[in-house]
Amino acid sequence: MTRTAIAAVLLMAVAQARTTRDGVYTEAQAKRGADVYEKACASCHAPDLSGSGQAPALADVDFAKEWDAQPLSDLFERIRTTMPADAPGTLKPAEVADVMAFLLSKAQIPAGSTELPSDAAALKTITYAAPKGDDFGTIPVVRLR
Ligand code: HEC
Repeated sequence: MTRTAIAAVLLMAVAQARTTRDGVYTEAQAKRGADVYEKACASCHAPDLSGSGQAPALADVDFAKEWDAQPLSDLFERIRTTMPADAPGTLKPAEVADVMAFLLSKAQIPAGSTELPSDAAALKTITYAAPKGDDFGTIPVVRLR
């Protein structure tokens, strides 16, 4: 391998090692996501993300356990193809990324200076790393406002 090739491989490894602890969305994006959430998600998942009826909570311990260590592309595809449950496929990819940024912010995952990308290939390189207390025990369900 040439030096350039080795450098490229190393760069890819670094890119793939990103997790949600690395500031992978911006506050502005999460704010846009809050609007998407209010319009398209809150009716079922509750304004404070605590869930209601069949719709599970989206910022609690169970949610963190379900998505921990998974690539963000999985959550993106899950939302993009199945949510909102009463009108799946109606959100633009950018709106899905924005609402994901909002979910991350409510799970107490810190914002950064680059936006979450809105395509699955790019999101595949970022792993969901839930903030962990004792067995995820410290993740609160937070109020919207
Ligand atoms: C009409 C009601 C309804 C709306 C609106 C809705 N959802 Fe859901 N959602 C559900 C139900 C019911 C489930 C569980 C059953 C299933 O998976 O389809 C669910 C499951 C989910 C899951 C999987 C949860 C987990 O623990 O893995 C995610 C993520 C999700 N919804 C996100 C969203 C987002 C984001 C929106 C807004 C864009 C949204 N939902 C809008 C009803 C809804």
